[in-house]
Amino acid sequence: MESQDVGTKLRQQHAALKADIGTITALLSKEVPQADFPSWRLELLWALRDFSNDLHKHFDLEEEGGFLSSVLEVAPQHHQAVNRLEAEHKTLSAQLGQAIDELKGMAVSTRQQFPPIRENVERLFDQLGQHEATESELLQEAYIQDEGG
Ligand SMILES: [Fe+2]
Ligand SMILES: [Fe+2]
Repeated sequence: MESQDVGTKLRQQHAALKADIGTITALLSKEVPQADFPSWRLELLWALRDFSNDLHKHFDLEEEGGFLSSVLEVAPQHHQAVNRLEAEHKTLSAQLGQAIDELKGMAVSTRQQFPPIRENVERLFDQLGQHEATESELLQEAYIQDEGG
């Protein structure tokens, strides 16, 4: 893929992820009457699955579309940061998978089991936000250094 295409695709993916996070956050902050809990839970489960799919495609593009390797080409001194970002992809993916499994395994009628899952998802969003911020800093630094020669 051309690097310009990758840039466009990355921007589209960031927008999709932002929309997924918005949907999930809205679902998490909803006051749900007990009677609606099963359908709400299913809606949340599917929203998390959509998010997981988009997130994995985003990681694939960063790892295989050349974004992380092009940072290394321009700024090889950042190889530790790049390794760390790739390791974070694995951690974030595992944490999201776990949250989905927990939600899936939760008995439909027991709302009290829910708060830890919500906390895990919210923590995951924070971590992803930090991860994305580190990435864009790295990208900017690499570009600035590239342009500056
Ligand atoms: Fe990433
Ligand atoms: Fe990213």
